[in-house]
Amino acid sequence: MKVLVIGAGGREHTLAWKMAQSDDVTDVFVAPGNSGTAKEPKCRNIDIASENIPELLKFGRDEKIDVTIVGPEAPLVAGVADAFRAAGLKVFGPSAKAARLEGSKVFAKELMAKYNIPSAPFEVFDDYAAAERYLKARNGPIVLKADGLAAGKGVFVCADQEQSLAALNAVLRDKVFGSAGNKVVIEECLQGEEASFIAFTDGETVLPLAGSQDHKAIFDNDCGPNTGGMGAYSPAPVITPEIHDKVMNTIMIPTVEALKAEGAPFSGFLYAGLMIKDGEPSTLEFNVRMGDPEAQPLLYRLKSDLTRPLLAAVEGRLGGETLEWFPEDAVCVVMAAGGYPGEYKKGYPITGIEEAESLGDIKVFHAGAALKEGRLVNWGGRVLGVTAKAKGIAAAIDLVYRGVDKITWENVQYRRDIGRKALRSGGEE
Ligand code: AMP
Ligand code: GLY
Repeated sequence: MKVLVIGAGGREHTLAWKMAQSDDVTDVFVAPGNSGTAKEPKCRNIDIASENIPELLKFGRDEKIDVTIVGPEAPLVAGVADAFRAAGLKVFGPSAKAARLEGSKVFAKELMAKYNIPSAPFEVFDDYAAAERYLKARNGPIVLKADGLAAGKGVFVCADQEQSLAALNAVLRDKVFGSAGNKVVIEECLQGEEASFIAFTDGETVLPLAGSQDHKAIFDNDCGPNTGGMGAYSPAPVITPEIHDKVMNTIMIPTVEALKAEGAPFSGFLYAGLMIKDGEPSTLEFNVRMGDPEAQPLLYRLKSDLTRPLLAAVEGRLGGETLEWFPEDAVCVVMAAGGYPGEYKKGYPITGIEEAESLGDIKVFHAGAALKEGRLVNWGGRVLGVTAKAKGIAAAIDLVYRGVDKITWENVQYRRDIGRKALRSGGEE
């Protein structure tokens, strides 16, 4: 079987690595891929950008690709899955219509409201004066979100009116996200613990992966600005069996049914970002793809052959599929360039990856790394995802940081507290 993975991040390295392990897979092409996918067995990078739908489609046809997996949201929102399906090619990922769940926060919130899916109360505005009046009439924390895709930067958790008015000004008036900010969602600020709930779906059946938890803020103790994610672990003890059932029955299954009822059936990875408080999960947002860095610990723990549920979802026969997991906990620490998520410098040589991987059950997934003149250098904000698994979360944390300590480059930064929340939530019991 020939597989095409679209994307260039740590998530795509992980997907390609996991697909390549299947006995049924002969070739994994990654468009455009990175320095990690370039050296995986069976894998080959293809110089096509992840948003170049015509070239991706041509490659899929010419190479007779058996199944394509789309990593990031932008090509999905732009219709890559529709284009492949129309050409008779199998693709894992939702149509553009279903991908509005991530592509438009207004669409997602209105869908949740219509179908009683738990989420924070909200208002939608496209008029600056009306939004300003609304914000001035209230005090205390509030969350303001640009409607469209903003590379993870379009959500402002505002402590007070001054911050919310500044966010409104940036999004609706200064248009810092362009037309993605033509509308804003303003919603109640929820408290609690966050978790990521990701499932395979074929539009009928929802097959959940294990729970996971991301760490979005750049600094320890969740301080500083939000990033794409600075580390993740799985399983997430905050998702107890009771909460798991609630999420399935009040969020995941109703959302898949709602999209079907709206004429936009969803197939692919459905990802609900949750806030959990006093045993009650609420939906912060949906993503229409695998998480990054959640992919790293999740797929490192997945024992099953990934091609099986993936093809079953593509072919609409997910019912009856099950997933097997390694019993260990997995933790991924993202090593990033100093300055990220703001400005950072590229091109510093990276050392120590082999030493880290020789410590034991550790794998270093590449993201913003590149080979330049034969040397591996940092080439993006989030550079590596050091991922380890061990019996119990404490041992996994210990191992992953022993790996991280072997790797360095100039100006490297990373969090030292990835996984600590799982210890606090009773993950060791
Ligand atoms: P993103 O994944 O970039 O859309 O960022 C969303 C992040 O903003 C979440 O992970 C939360 O930390 C935060 N967030 C979003 N909505 C809310 C809300 N209603 N209350 C509190 N925090 C929120
Ligand atoms: N880790 C968060 C995301 O993938 O959106």
